[in-house]
Amino acid sequence: MRHLIDILDFSVEELQELIDTANDIIAFPEKYSERCHGKKLATLFFEPSTRTRLSFEAAMYELGGQVLGFSEAQSSSAAKGESVADTAKVISCYADIIAMRHPKEGAPLVAAMNASIPVINAGDGGHNHPTQTLADLLTIYREKGGFEHLTVGFCGDLKFGRTVHSLIEALSRYEGIKVVLISPEELKLPSYIKKDVLREKNIPYLQTTDLEAVMPELDILYMTRVQRERFFNEEDYLRLKDSYILTPDKLQNAKPDLSILHPLPRVNEISVAIDQDPRACYFKQVLYGKYMRMALILKLLKEAGRL
Ligand code: NCD
Repeated sequence: MRHLIDILDFSVEELQELIDTANDIIAFPEKYSERCHGKKLATLFFEPSTRTRLSFEAAMYELGGQVLGFSEAQSSSAAKGESVADTAKVISCYADIIAMRHPKEGAPLVAAMNASIPVINAGDGGHNHPTQTLADLLTIYREKGGFEHLTVGFCGDLKFGRTVHSLIEALSRYEGIKVVLISPEELKLPSYIKKDVLREKNIPYLQTTDLEAVMPELDILYMTRVQRERFFNEEDYLRLKDSYILTPDKLQNAKPDLSILHPLPRVNEISVAIDQDPRACYFKQVLYGKYMRMALILKLLKEAGRL
């Protein structure tokens, strides 16, 4: 059974296939509107979400399928003490595919090991978020025409930002990628990712606290929110939350074809004045996320012999 737990579960060729399918869906949506007729997606969300859950739901509806699930742990049997493994076995009797978000790192992997249907990791704690990466990849592909020879800046909470971890993993497989890591000292990228991904794959990277100094180098600027819910104390959060606020003046030395991405939700880190700038891609990114989830659902259901 194929699942999507980590973005590296898919080869570069498979990611390209998903991008091609998503582009085809964008061009010819009517071709896809009944592809999942009679199929059910279960959205098991043990942690808050707006975009990811609704994006999965919209994706399944636009494929002609149906959706069931819950959006908080309190309304599921987890509140009675049911294990993730048991929940996965139970849901396998009701649905054709599962999208799971969980505050514990590794929970979707446990679900995958116990389910008899495909499981998609829709975010596990501060670890990974591979379907946000699918949205990010389609955005980069449509903006830049490919992934090679790009300098990508990641700014904000690189420690707890799971979308950053998954996107760095994904980009590490393309030729000529350079990574610039911009964060406060306390929110630096975890050293296991620097070691296992960046150094392992010989990807040149730079760590800095100074966004403006590196701005002229960047082809992509990936802004992130400081992840309040993963902090141990509120004081640290309050001290760090406004470390970076992207305002129009900070873009003065940026490339004219810079692409600004953000997985959203935005708190303070991008001023709304930037929304008018043609380099702002974060709302397109939301839309692309839905198309990539459609492509992903189709791929996993086909491979499971359910389509
Ligand atoms: C991200 C997440 O959940 O990790 N949101 C999302 O899915 N688009 C980013 C975030 O919450 O900051």
